Amino acid sequence: MNELNVRNCRLIELPKIGDEKRGYLSFMESLRSIPFEIKRVYYIYGVGDSSAMRGEHAHKENLEQIFFCINGSVTFLLDDGERKDEYELKDPNIGIYIGPKLWHTLVNFSKDAIVLVVASDYYTEELYIRDYDKFIEYVHRGE
Ligand code: TYD
Repeated sequence: MNELNVRNCRLIELPKIGDEKRGYLSFMESLRSIPFEIKRVYYIYGVGDSSAMRGEHAHKENLEQIFFCINGSVTFLLDDGERKDEYELKDPNIGIYIGPKLWHTLVNFSKDAIVLVVASDYYTEELYIRDYDKFIEYVHRGE
């Protein structure tokens, strides 16, 4: 599995049990394959326009998330303020861990894409940075 060349980001591989005939089963567990306690699960689906972009934000400290594309495919554009990388998520058992201070944008959704996200905390807008210039400032101030 290739490593990603940005901070606070890595791929997480879940078990994949089964075969082509009977199908596959993958599972995730808090504090085991998922390195935090899961407090929230959400999912993105029905993205009808292939030019749609989602994300386009970063999180402050104390929010960790792992994204899985459990059907279809989507591309992650990643930017830690210094380096950029991208990754096409398409295997249901491969997740992408997004820690704090990482600008991430989701593009190239296939019509059937279902993106399942597990998060370490409840939703609060206070943990988001939605302005790219403010993100760069935040990263460089190190606050
Ligand atoms: P947003 O984070 O902007 O979605 P994306 O990054 O995929 O474009 O969230 C869209 C809306 O949903 C926004 O009004 C906030 C709300 N929301 C919640 O209420 N709870 C959640 O757990 C999440 C992730 C979003």
